[in-house]
Amino acid sequence: MTMRRRETVADLWAGFVVELLGGVWRCRLELALVGVPLVAWWLVSRPLGNVGAGVVVGATVAAVIVSPGARRALWRWLKANRVRRAWRRAWLDVGLPRVSARRVRQVPAGELVRIRCSRGSSIPTVAAHAEQLAACFGTREVRVHRDPEHAAWGTALLVRRDPLDGVTADGPWADATCPLSLWDAFPVGVDELGGTVTVSLPERNLLLGGEPGAGKSAAMSLVLATAAMDPTVKLWLLDGKLVELAAWQPCAERLAGPNLDDAIALLQAVRDEMERRYRELLATGVRKITRDAGLPLHAIACDELAFYLTAEDRKQRTRFAELLRDLVARGRAAGVIVIAATQKPAADVVPSALRDLFGFRLALRCTTPQASDTILGQGWASLGHTAATIAPTQRGIGLLLAEDGVPVRLRCFYLDDQAIDQLARRALLIRMDAALDAETPS
Ligand SMILES: Nc1ncnc2c1ncn2[C@@H]1O[C@H](COP(=O)(O)OP(=O)(O)OP(=O)(O)O)[C@@H](O)[C@H]1O
Ligand SMILES: [Mg+2]
Repeated sequence: MTMRRRETVADLWAGFVVELLGGVWRCRLELALVGVPLVAWWLVSRPLGNVGAGVVVGATVAAVIVSPGARRALWRWLKANRVRRAWRRAWLDVGLPRVSARRVRQVPAGELVRIRCSRGSSIPTVAAHAEQLAACFGTREVRVHRDPEHAAWGTALLVRRDPLDGVTADGPWADATCPLSLWDAFPVGVDELGGTVTVSLPERNLLLGGEPGAGKSAAMSLVLATAAMDPTVKLWLLDGKLVELAAWQPCAERLAGPNLDDAIALLQAVRDEMERRYRELLATGVRKITRDAGLPLHAIACDELAFYLTAEDRKQRTRFAELLRDLVARGRAAGVIVIAATQKPAADVVPSALRDLFGFRLALRCTTPQASDTILGQGWASLGHTAATIAPTQRGIGLLLAEDGVPVRLRCFYLDDQAIDQLARRALLIRMDAALDAETPS
């Protein structure tokens, strides 16, 4: 009995000492900030005396504080240390196995912490406790992502504010005078870390969804601006409202308005091009077109997809859906890119055989997590990626999902009517120049 009590007391002492040393180690920066000037003062006071040492050390400290670079670095350092300590408290309080916080980076949303979980635990386990962790930190939310390369590593984003609020983003088109290339990745918006989100469309298709007024047509105009400024791209426009894509009509091969016969004829024309392209590829022994092949990309932009897919005439709408599905399914290697926007691509509106073929999905604000999942794909809402949490006033904010990734929250760049008008005119000039160059014998 006495033996066990002695062991317990020894354990308590050992635990106390370990905690104390751990606490000292965790506060090492703050302790160093106090200790280093004191030690320096003590060392300098020997040759210079107390007052002289006070002046030297005081001047040095003042120099550090006055220098903006050093002050910022010190402030960042202190803040990172505080976050690391809060992180430790949080996982202890939540009852998780040890999750160490390593590098801490200030980002527009709050702090991005690189984390490493201990043996026997996993990053998804940490992610499952995101709500409790957020409550411990007093933040809006905590988003945990696993490192794709290493299961023990991940990041935790402590979201303190919506970094996309108040961001006004015009995008890089405003100054674009030279031809662009749709073969290149082009910017579509700004993410929560302040980085530019880009999309590369060759061999892919893009589906945009969201409630009325969420910003689908505005986001589509970013793709159209890039495609129109590339004089080699053949543009095909389907506009259920007639007015949304009208500005780009001079740059397009054809525009079909809210008329299903016209829309079917347009898709049929692109399909004929696609078949011709495949025959060409067969003749040249190539399996898909590449940038160097010099063959144009075909971009089909369809705004208000639901208008065509819910038309009264069943035969016509089935024909439309079949043609579009075929272009999305077989167009990849032939350089056909489909960009389609609709309010809610539920299975009763957009056949899932068509919907599931889109590589890129942009979910703008939705009213329910289920609606968000119909755009991004089943299951994302339950993992915390839902466009239903976007406020109705946050137009142009959405979640972008690329085939192999995790949805990225972004604010799309915005081109107002005037900017679109100017760009469309510039694009037309670029296309006319390119046509003249092509006709002029070298
Ligand atoms: N990225 C953005 N930044 C700022 N405002 C935006 C952005 N995108 C859209 N808006 C605003 O939202 C309005 C509606 O956008 P848009 O017409 O693209 O919505 P929509 O989703 O296509 O709606 P509908 O389903 O009715 O066609 C725009 O007129 C603009 O004022
Ligand atoms: Mg629209």
